[in-house]
Amino acid sequence: MNHGTLERNSILLLVCILVVVSIGGMVQIAPLYWVDSTIEKVKGMRPYTPLEQAGRDIYVREGCYNCHSQMVRTLRDEVERYGHYSLAAESMYDHPFQWGSKRTGPDLARVGGKYSDQWHAEHMINPRSLVPESIMPGYPWLAKTKLETGDMVARLSTLKTVGVPYTDDMMKNVATDLKAQIDPDSRAARDLVKRYPKARVGKFDGKPGTDPTELDAVIAYLQILGQMVDFTTFDAAGPNLR
Ligand code: HEC
Repeated sequence: MNHGTLERNSILLLVCILVVVSIGGMVQIAPLYWVDSTIEKVKGMRPYTPLEQAGRDIYVREGCYNCHSQMVRTLRDEVERYGHYSLAAESMYDHPFQWGSKRTGPDLARVGGKYSDQWHAEHMINPRSLVPESIMPGYPWLAKTKLETGDMVARLSTLKTVGVPYTDDMMKNVATDLKAQIDPDSRAARDLVKRYPKARVGKFDGKPGTDPTELDAVIAYLQILGQMVDFTTFDAAGPNLR
């Protein structure tokens, strides 16, 4: 068709733009309907433990995502600063996922294992006690608030409904696992780690006691971020499929 005609006829131009845009849209959107085959599965990914998931819910409740993303891009400066770039599979059990580009604070996708539990406990209560120039607000109430666990089974079964593979064994042990994760050296803790490999067990908030606080949950969550996939053996071109 003569390009001049197209450019002088606004309705025709509009129709043609719509056709082109919808083809482009379809190419991008349609594969997501077969998302199971779009996201390559990666070894090591597992559902969050009940305590980690509870921490994640608090992370969302407190709006940490307003300042922190969880997505390391493939750019060199990001990979050198944070570590291996994020894989889609790393957020496959995240509802809602925590990607984003708003970084008032640093990206947290690889923060697990970077600091001790004690560092996190102090940092969450008063960031400036450790990073004097920090503009992050303190969250001192997390340390004083007992974690609300009554609805944890319901929350995990909701996640199961949307595809997070919690097994019957996991669902049966929610109450035990919530306490086990802050009870190092116990038999229950060993069972927890069998159910959830690499789960970190510890006195996260540094206080004795058998009932987790909100701070315990948030630290358990922060400490697992970026830890499930073993990037020392990960090879983007190799056989990572489960
Ligand atoms: C107003 C913005 C803001 C909010 C909201 C915020 N942070 Fe931060 N955060 C920062 C800044 C800035 C830093 C860097 C300075 C520091 O370490 O305190 C930071 C640092 C951190 C670090 C250390 C990261 C590293 O690699 O050194 C962690 C962990 C963290 N924040 C967790 C959280 C959590 C969890 C929440 C929600 C409960 C939260 N932040 C809410 C701004 C924020």
